[in-house]
Amino acid sequence: MAQLWGGRFTKETDQLVYDFNASIGFDQKLLHEDIAGSIAHVTMLAKQGIVTWAERDSIIAGLKSIEEDVESGSLAVTSQYEDVHSFVEANLIERIGEAGKKLHTGRSRNDQVALDMRMYVRGHVKRTDALLKELLSVLYQKMEENLDTYMPGFTHLQKAQPVTLAHHFGAYFEMFRRDRSRMHDIYERMNYCPLGAGALAGTTYPLDREYTAQLLDFYGPTLNSMDSVSDRDYVIEYLSALSTVMMHLSRFCEEIILWNSDEYRFVEMDDAYSTGSSIMPQKKNPDIAELVRGKTGRVYGALMSLLTTMKGLPLAYNKDMQEDKEPTFDAIETVESCLTLFTGMISTMKFRREVMAKSAMNGFTNATDAADYLVGKGIPFRDAHSIIGKLVLYCIDKNTSIDALSLEELQEICDQFEEDVYDAVSLKTCVEKRLTIGAPGSEAMKRTLEIYRKYLEEN
Ligand code: ARG
Repeated sequence: MAQLWGGRFTKETDQLVYDFNASIGFDQKLLHEDIAGSIAHVTMLAKQGIVTWAERDSIIAGLKSIEEDVESGSLAVTSQYEDVHSFVEANLIERIGEAGKKLHTGRSRNDQVALDMRMYVRGHVKRTDALLKELLSVLYQKMEENLDTYMPGFTHLQKAQPVTLAHHFGAYFEMFRRDRSRMHDIYERMNYCPLGAGALAGTTYPLDREYTAQLLDFYGPTLNSMDSVSDRDYVIEYLSALSTVMMHLSRFCEEIILWNSDEYRFVEMDDAYSTGSSIMPQKKNPDIAELVRGKTGRVYGALMSLLTTMKGLPLAYNKDMQEDKEPTFDAIETVESCLTLFTGMISTMKFRREVMAKSAMNGFTNATDAADYLVGKGIPFRDAHSIIGKLVLYCIDKNTSIDALSLEELQEICDQFEEDVYDAVSLKTCVEKRLTIGAPGSEAMKRTLEIYRKYLEEN
């Protein structure tokens, strides 16, 4: 047990208490942020004349050697230390002696951990954004390739109106684009440096907090020292945004699982992204999609966990806040691996265009267009709706579709039908006539794609 605070105590900490209190098992993930933060802090201390430049250089050399040795494996992060901050400081003092004892001047572990966590989350906000962009690029490419890949669009999981695969993917493009803009918002709000807040009330040293903030690429220092050490809003916002990413991925996975089933057969998953069954030789299971869907729960769990941890905390720092780390780290790892695998799965998936088009042709997906056709012939929409309803019933009874009926049969139900009805209710027309921006018609989709192309170029 190596502690930073033995002076006031008369008894050794009980081992169980020590283990319960320690966070080294998981906060060692913050080593790089901790060292970067210390380098900036000591540089500021030197600039302010609080330590000498020679002490600062020796401290930085020590910190860098610790980082290198941990990376190369020659220095193990062991449970002998309470947390990553104690580990670094103890090793620093061991390596460089007296100067090492000055690093913590004007700093508390409270603002130190607040900084480490902020930098860690900030880095992953950027990483998540980059992974989302990769996914968007793949979706964009699939959309370009599938402007005329017709498929049924569903409401209530019942065939509704025909759309295209490009249009369907476009819906997810919108979702993941919003996810990226959430990352951007979080970054803008969180990018202020808490270092210098001390334990809770700032310090009496003449710190230059603007300078530290600048060294660490923050927009500036945070403005209230109590809030600085007890704010985890940015983690909550990030976990909330990650939960939304997972919700989107999960919905997409659910569709792919359906599309990959024998009942749909819309897609074929690449062998690399499917697995077999130990008993049923015919099986090719969409495990990756199912796992992404399944992992959504643990990310929601992380959000619930931290919201609950924070809800009753009085100002300022409380040890409860150490519980922010494990769920957050797990959520980040989960989302990053899900995004990577999902992108690979989509980019290698094959689409069965004929099966999709055939599916779009039955199920009366052209019923609305048939009604619109009658409106074009002067019949009020409500009447047209009812006429087509009767027509659908007739077709169900005969086990056929609207476009397969003869003109005589159609005219028996409504004398306004003419030869041009067949073109009006064809799959192609049903899609291509939908030309308002946001609709699936390929001319409308091309306009949307042009906006997406620019967006990907500029963001
Ligand atoms: N391991 C602690 C955490 O993650 C570091 C801060 C400790 N501060 C304290 N006052 N005990 O929150």
